[in-house]
Amino acid sequence: MGLLDDIHAIVGDAGLIAGEDVGKRSDWRGVVCEAKAVVRPRSTDELSAVMRLCHAARQPVAPAGGLTGLVRGAYASGQEIQISLERMRAIESVDPVGRTMTVEAGAVLETVHEAAAAHGLLYGVDLGARGSCTIGGNISTNAGGNTVIRYGMTRENVLGLETVLADGTIVSSMNSLLKNNAGYDLKQLFIGSEGTLGIVTRAVLRLHPAPTSEATAILAVDGFDNLTRIFSLVGQRLGGALRSFEVMWSNYYDLIAVRSGRHKPPLAAGHDYYVIVEAAGFDPERDEIQFADLMGEALEQGLTADAVIAASKAQRMAIWAIREDVPGQIMMMTPGVSFDVSLPISRMDAYIEGLRASLAGSCGETAMMIVYGHIGDNNLHLLVAPRPWSDAASQAAKEMVYRPLAALGGSVSAEHGIGLEKREWLPLSRSPQELALMRHLKTALDPHDILNPEKVL
Ligand code: LAC
Ligand code: ZN
Repeated sequence: MGLLDDIHAIVGDAGLIAGEDVGKRSDWRGVVCEAKAVVRPRSTDELSAVMRLCHAARQPVAPAGGLTGLVRGAYASGQEIQISLERMRAIESVDPVGRTMTVEAGAVLETVHEAAAAHGLLYGVDLGARGSCTIGGNISTNAGGNTVIRYGMTRENVLGLETVLADGTIVSSMNSLLKNNAGYDLKQLFIGSEGTLGIVTRAVLRLHPAPTSEATAILAVDGFDNLTRIFSLVGQRLGGALRSFEVMWSNYYDLIAVRSGRHKPPLAAGHDYYVIVEAAGFDPERDEIQFADLMGEALEQGLTADAVIAASKAQRMAIWAIREDVPGQIMMMTPGVSFDVSLPISRMDAYIEGLRASLAGSCGETAMMIVYGHIGDNNLHLLVAPRPWSDAASQAAKEMVYRPLAALGGSVSAEHGIGLEKREWLPLSRSPQELALMRHLKTALDPHDILNPEKVL
């Protein structure tokens, strides 16, 4: 009996996909699964038994959630078995008083939102891939998204975790308490380590009261100083009610909102920045007036050139659709390189200008770059499309984007992680001592290097 037969004995027909059927599976971009086999455990115990076998056989595995990542963190090679949590999607329970939810790792983010809403509660992490990304993937990558400014990253929204280690050991840290300082906070080892230290199987999520008012506006802004002034102003006036502060540079707005032909632009093109400000509170009448006053004040002070406040849910969705239009980005910028970097807000303007200059210097007028991001979280996304496209041009673009970051106190990954894509750049953001400690942890937890090998380190 081979390893796959032994695994089959544990997970059954529905739990194992092998042979030709593997190649029939693909992610949302159509990238076909190359794995040796796909194992779909139905429970933590099944996964534990599978990992015991893989550990004994030195069989590498690549854990998979919703496959919406952008750094090839879930890539499975032909030597690897993909472990998909897609048959572990249950919302196990909601505690409306303690404001927690217990879920299996394969639960889709949007399902978690809906389950929380049914109790008048909210899960704080939200991102464009909500319809297909899973909680397990969010946890493994410490996903950020559009509401980090208010609720923090995934790390801040996970209270407890259950994990299967490389050798099959189940570590259950299903804490549901906000305070628990009884020794090391082990769950933090697995949050953001991209499936290299353990496979997340269940989690206890922290929930918040669901706001009863929502206000969204898109602002046109000229000059970086005005942008930072608005950021300060809305922070001061809205306080904890500020939920999103998303910025699209003019080149993004021009290409995606206007030129792609996919949207009805809410504001005229030609301004330096387009900002989505969103507030959420608990007093609908007062909040609406306060938000409108605030937008009026920004306009009077000359901080904004123009603004539209969404008057309906459809209008709000139309504004967000511009920001979250990944298919539009792909349509306009393929082939291209996508970046996710962070740096202090005060350095962003000079950084982008410098980048524009170096790209123009090396690739002439033919390198397109669009910039957007969660600037309140220090996080910029860049899409760079050198023309003519070549591997050398793509590598040169990476050099230009990543090299200046260390001196600016920035990071080569703000929220997307390292995966396979960014390994060579990790030393720009981490010291030799930090990297040595990471390797030490990896070796201690996964001595045979079977958990998502090659990723991160
Ligand atoms: C976003 C993804 C790319 O913010 O992180 O749209
Ligand atoms: Zn993002």
